[in-house]
Amino acid sequence: MKISVIGLGYLGVTHAVAMAALGHEVIGIEPDQNKILALKSGTVPFYELGLKEALAKAIATEKISFQHQHDERSASAQIHFICVGTPQSIDNHAADTSYVFTAASQLATVLKPDSLVVGKSTVPVGTAANLIQTIESIAGFTPSVCWNPEFLREGTALEDSLKPDRIVIGSDNEAVNKPLIECYQDILTQGVPLLELDLATAELVKVSANAFLATKISFINAMAEIAEASGADAVKLAEAIGMDNRIGKSFLRTGIGFGGGCLPKDIRGFIARADELGVGSSLNFLTEVDQINLRRRQRVVDLATNELGTLKNKTIAMLGISFKPDSDDLRDSPALEIALKLHARGAIVNIHDPVSLESLHKKHPALTTSTSALEACRDSDLAILGTEWKEYIDLAPESLSPKTKIIIDGRNVLNVEKWQAAGWRVIALGRNLH
Ligand SMILES: NC(=O)c1ccc[n+]([C@@H]2O[C@H](COP(=O)([O-])OP(=O)(O)OC[C@H]3O[C@@H](n4cnc5c(N)ncnc54)[C@H](O)[C@@H]3O)[C@@H](O)[C@H]2O)c1
Repeated sequence: MKISVIGLGYLGVTHAVAMAALGHEVIGIEPDQNKILALKSGTVPFYELGLKEALAKAIATEKISFQHQHDERSASAQIHFICVGTPQSIDNHAADTSYVFTAASQLATVLKPDSLVVGKSTVPVGTAANLIQTIESIAGFTPSVCWNPEFLREGTALEDSLKPDRIVIGSDNEAVNKPLIECYQDILTQGVPLLELDLATAELVKVSANAFLATKISFINAMAEIAEASGADAVKLAEAIGMDNRIGKSFLRTGIGFGGGCLPKDIRGFIARADELGVGSSLNFLTEVDQINLRRRQRVVDLATNELGTLKNKTIAMLGISFKPDSDDLRDSPALEIALKLHARGAIVNIHDPVSLESLHKKHPALTTSTSALEACRDSDLAILGTEWKEYIDLAPESLSPKTKIIIDGRNVLNVEKWQAAGWRVIALGRNLH
């Protein structure tokens, strides 16, 4: 099938490449000329395992092309996927859907009545209904629109796109879903469940799933706060409660909490939307989920200050800066916020990360970077594990030469006995290791 993918960020590039891998003819549309140039030359503008190779294959087989605006060729696509960003608004917590409406308005000027518009961006419930009206007012006909939320996780994005847990399609009328189901046929024949829902429910699936995951993380981090105050061990607590099948183990690791371009802004946008709908109290708990999450970042700054007395001119090694391993995404990264706070209080923060240093340097040139974990820790007064990259979990503590052997394990992933045996004092969130 011929498809267009509008907006080539983390979601759009991955989706475009995944659709090309399924054999579709994909036209990527993106206003940023630098991204277009990079993609045409086979460069993925962010780090994502396997994506570069899959892009190279798509280019070599002429299954993918990129352009900065619509033309006759892209207009003839059977399906147009809208994958633009929905960031947190600058002046409040609501999702900024202006990119979605702009992209849809641009598409409406060339849209054919028999093409299907598919929203993949994460939007507040009710957006699709307004989008149909916007497109209709420009195109002069009622467009066929589906909402097809995306559940990919950065780090395993391509795999998640090609083998998702489920495919959710929302629309006013199931008949319009047909081309999209055909587009995903190869995925569906692997046994991936398909849920055909109404538009509002499909829009809600994504934000409510993210709200649930954020709640689970903040729940165990709230238990970490209780454990810290009472001398209990939140890691052992999580293990014990996670053995209950009704609760489950995943997303129950205490640490510096969630971040990235989705969870924080999605829960805030969800709270704002519930307020608009007059049911704000239904999501009051999510404000607390957000607060617990942000407190864990401050907790690390407080622990560092307690250990070092003052942060001024103290050398701190920060191991990992991306919001999660296997990604170079720095958006709302807990490790980055901690590093910035320590830096603002006068500490010299030496940051290492396997893949994120280039983007870090572009966004925060004042922060110091190190070429290896060993270099970052050299002569350090304190080390902090900020992102659970495998290379840090596997580090040999005896190979490091800090001034003082103290590490704050912000992710509760280090083998404490191994580090203690090498003479390190390990401080871990939610644990009493002394
Ligand atoms: N990143 C993820 O892991 C992920 C996962 C699931 C869902 N989502 C959702 O997907 C959406 C996109 O997220 P992202 O992380 O890819 O954002 P992003 O900021 O990385 O990318 C958005 C892209 O859209 C482009 N764009 C803006 N206006 C445009 C227009 N009028 N026409 C064409 N392109 C335009 C931007 O230049 C940018 O390249 C968001 O709603 C997000 O919540 C993201």
